[in-house]
Order: sequence, then structure tokens, then C-alpha cells
Amino acid sequence: MQSDQKLLLYEGKAKRIFKTDDPDRVLVEYKNDATAFNALKKSEFEGKGRLNCQISSILFELLESEGVPTHYLGIVDENLMMAQKVDVIPLEVVLRNIATGSLCRETPILSGTEISPALLDLYYKDDALQDPLLTNARLEVLNLISKERYNQIENLARKVNKILSNFLSKVDLILVDFKLEMGVNTNGNLVVADEISPDTCRIWDKRTKDLNDRILDKDRFRKDLGGIVQAYEEIFNRIKGISSNPRIYK
Ligand code: TMP
Ligand code: ASP
Repeated sequence: MQSDQKLLLYEGKAKRIFKTDDPDRVLVEYKNDATAFNALKKSEFEGKGRLNCQISSILFELLESEGVPTHYLGIVDENLMMAQKVDVIPLEVVLRNIATGSLCRETPILSGTEISPALLDLYYKDDALQDPLLTNARLEVLNLISKERYNQIENLARKVNKILSNFLSKVDLILVDFKLEMGVNTNGNLVVADEISPDTCRIWDKRTKDLNDRILDKDRFRKDLGGIVQAYEEIFNRIKGISSNPRIYK
């Protein structure tokens, strides 16, 4: 790797973004660090970065094959991917198929309630403000995105939900909810950015009814259940069995 490829542009809680010699491309390094509750809780898990990178690659390629534009360009190393440089829209786009997590902490909706059509929740991405939930009215006052962009974001997120849910269900995995980030690339197109991994999705195993054993995502860390890397490995093994190897970026 050339030395100019190692210039750090940004370091997040679970990833580092490096500049490359091409202004339209960045390298994304997936770290082993895990955080929860706005980084109040922190740890490190050997193998997590590699697994999230491989799982994200498979899922980004799946989305692309179904016509969803993403920032993904290919795998560079086991925990390193090449991606388009994008201006990330500071919104966390969350879709919920089954109620759990913050929805059940903040409302009387019972955990496990199926939600159809899926609930779209938008959060303003700002650590200092602890990523507050936005109402549509607040989003309008914020003047962050046009009505047209909002519709594009919602349509894309719902399409992603259908594709991922169908795909995961083929290997007995339930997509409970997930968070997407979207950005605008240097061609001005809206693309799915960031990552799609068990750090950013809730995924339950249909093969067990046990309420803890079925959790295969970062809730294992949030809830101190242990076995986080084994759970991510289980997801990876199941989905790689029904996918081709992610492309190597050259
Ligand atoms: P929540 O129930 O805690 O609001 O989380 C909803 C989904 O969003 C869940 O799949 C986990 C994901 N998520 C993130 O990716 N990053 C975050 O900072 C939070 C709070 C949730
Ligand atoms: N990633 C988030 C953080 O540590 C929270 C979470 O995923 O629960 O801020």
C-alpha cells in the first residue's frame, strides 16, 4: 500500500477512514472496538473488525445486485474495504420490523411486537446531542434535506429492508431492525454508506426460541451476554454459504 493511502481522514468508534490517492475513493478500516450507549460502554473483540468487513461486503454486493446504489467498491484486505468518498447526511435511518431496543424503552410497545409496514425512525447524528430521535416537524425546521431527498431516503431504506430481510430469512435469520447511513457521492447520487453488519443490525436466529441465545448481534455486548464474535461468525458462515466471495478491489 502506498504511503499516501494511510492518511487518516476520520476515526469513528468502530471504523477508520483513510484518504487514497484518488479523491473519489476512501479506504474503510473496520476496528475490533465495540461501544454502546454513546460510548459509555467500551470493549474490544478480536475478529470483530474482520467479520463486520466481510459481512458488510456480502450485504453491499447483494444490495448492488438488486439495484441499490452503495458506496462499496470492493475488499482490499480482511478488515479493509475500498469505498466511494461521500458526504454523509447526518441522519441515522432506522427501520424496525420487530419492536425491541429503544422503541420498547421509550414507549409501552411490547418487545417482540411485529411492525408492518416497518417503522422508520430518523435520528440526528450528533454524539454531543446523543443522536436524538427526530420528528418530521423537527426535521423540517432543521432544514437538512429537501422533501424530495426525504422520500428518496425512505424509499431506499424500505427497499434495503425487503432485500436484506428476504436474504437473511433464507438462512433462518430474522432482520429485527437496522440502522443505515446515506451519503451523496461525488457524482451527486444518493448511496447507502457506512456499514451493514451485526454492529448496526439486530439479527435473531430462527433456529432457537431462547430469548438470549437467538441474539446474534451487538445486543450480546449491550446486554453482557458474551459470545459476540461467535455470533457474528455464525451470521457470516450462514450468509457466505449462499453468496459468492466478495470481489477483491484492484
Ligand atoms: P435502538 O433500538 O437502540 O434505537 O437501535 C435501533 C437499531 O439501530 C439497531 O439495529 C441498532 C442500530 N444502532 C446503531 O447502529 N447505532 C446506534 O448508535 C444505535 C443507538 C443503534
Ligand atoms: N454505537 C453506539 C455508541 O456507542 C451505540 C450502540 O450501537 O448501541 O455510541
